[in-house]
Amino acid sequence: MVSKLLTISALVATVLALPDVTPKQLPSGCASYPNYHADSGETDGFLVEVVDSENPAIEGFYDTSDYSVGIGAQGRPYMRWGYLTIPTRNDIAKTGLKCSDGVLRAWVDTELTAAGAPTNTQWSPLALSPYANDGVLLYKVEGEEVRVYEHYVGEEKQPGLFLGGYDNSTTWGFTYIEPHATSEYGNYQMRLIRTTEDVGTNETRGFVKIQGS
Ligand SMILES: *[C@@H]1O[C@H](CO)[C@@H](O)[C@H](O)[C@H]1NC(C)=O
Ligand SMILES: *[C@@H]1O[C@H](CO)[C@@H](O)[C@H](O)[C@H]1NC(C)=O
Repeated sequence: MVSKLLTISALVATVLALPDVTPKQLPSGCASYPNYHADSGETDGFLVEVVDSENPAIEGFYDTSDYSVGIGAQGRPYMRWGYLTIPTRNDIAKTGLKCSDGVLRAWVDTELTAAGAPTNTQWSPLALSPYANDGVLLYKVEGEEVRVYEHYVGEEKQPGLFLGGYDNSTTWGFTYIEPHATSEYGNYQMRLIRTTEDVGTNETRGFVKIQGS
């Protein structure tokens, strides 16, 4: 019995440990993404996927998005900013991504109607939050470029291409957010954790792999 328990806990530890990889930064711009077309300066559409994570509830899940609502003049709602998220269920509509004109973009609603309904869908540029201790991948906000990375263990390149940036980190944190007005099922907020930052309370870590890589 004891040995069986030990085997199970060893297995769980193996599955949940974040692999110790060395990220290698690829050049800035769209050519570092899969399925790039030099003639149009664009990639095909793709999603990104949580892999090698500490959280079995979202392992293999693809990106969705959410946004923050502000109240403007005459009590009219407006979209302050939006951000990529990971869903609590993998069967709901995903947020399409592509790289064009040198920038990663998401196909998202960018405004609200007077009644508060999301509208004006477009390929909106994504940027890493410019603020310290934040690392959220945002739209409608200027920030730092999210970059493409390869992963190495020793000299050996690992399969896939990964999103990262700041001080060459590719470790993302995922924190569960309860259902709320703009997210029927709740979601996991995702942030890029700088190499100097600690993982947060109730936050699990993982990598974000580019589909088709
Ligand atoms: C990230 O890695 C690249 C390539 O090794 C290096 O040129 C760059 O200075 C690094 N960036 C930071 C912020 O450490
Ligand atoms: C962490 O999760 C527990 C259980 O859901 C909750 O009670 C606690 O408030 C959370 N802590 C933070 C800092 O969110």
